[in-house]
Amino acid sequence: MGPIGLLDSGVGGLSVLRQLQKVLPQEDYVYFADTFHMPYGVRSKAELEDIVFSSCDFLLREQCRAIVMACNTASALVLPRARQCYETPLFGVLLPGVRAAAQATLNGRIGVLATEATIISNAYNDALYAISPSIEVYGQACSSLASMVEQGELEGAVVSKALHHCVAPVLRQGIDTLVLGCTHYPFLRPLLSQLVPASVQVVDPAEQTAREVQAHILPAVSGGGTTKFYVSGEIARFMHVATRLIGCPIEPRQVKFGMGANGLTVAVE
Ligand code: DGL
Repeated sequence: MGPIGLLDSGVGGLSVLRQLQKVLPQEDYVYFADTFHMPYGVRSKAELEDIVFSSCDFLLREQCRAIVMACNTASALVLPRARQCYETPLFGVLLPGVRAAAQATLNGRIGVLATEATIISNAYNDALYAISPSIEVYGQACSSLASMVEQGELEGAVVSKALHHCVAPVLRQGIDTLVLGCTHYPFLRPLLSQLVPASVQVVDPAEQTAREVQAHILPAVSGGGTTKFYVSGEIARFMHVATRLIGCPIEPRQVKFGMGANGLTVAVE
């Protein structure tokens, strides 16, 4: 049985990996961090499709039997079309986040913090509206937050100010539920808890994603619980920040994007 593949623009998807490892500890994982193209949140749908499709192809060559787009931007902009093109089961984080938020809200007012591209796509609004047209969604694009987490900036005045800037407008709308609609943001939870009142439920879509993956795949019987990491950009910085975030040392391998006969392709260096 093949591993489960995960992809993100960097360390964000590690927030999904840690939830998957909790519920499916015996699985093998392949984590693809496309730091070469980070941030995804400012890219167009066409650009992201090219990038994410070639990343999926790479994960399939790594024998992955399922792929989790551990990235809200990719889940919003690329996943629907990717599902039409691949036979391998593909999971996203956005709809699980939507289901968890719809379940959590009591007053029907939900805030969503996400990248610019996710907010502009309206994917959260559309999916929440489909569950209940009476739900009010207040989306807030947080342009610099993912890059700060990617650099390992999880505390201090600069990131605190940036987070406050994102959270304050949605809190003013009387929300009772706040979705962390970018997989980088759960790493800011300690800081966030100083800014968000206890009456607001914070939803990390990774938790529901892990439960849904668990419910839909045939679990590995003989997996070793290993994780392989591949990075398309600078290895040293990813290794340093990821090691800190997951709490154990990792040894990522370098991959490079290039132009193949059929367009963009990813290969191990
Ligand atoms: N972690 C990603 C997300 O969930 C993307 C962040 C970025 O590269 O802009 O949207």
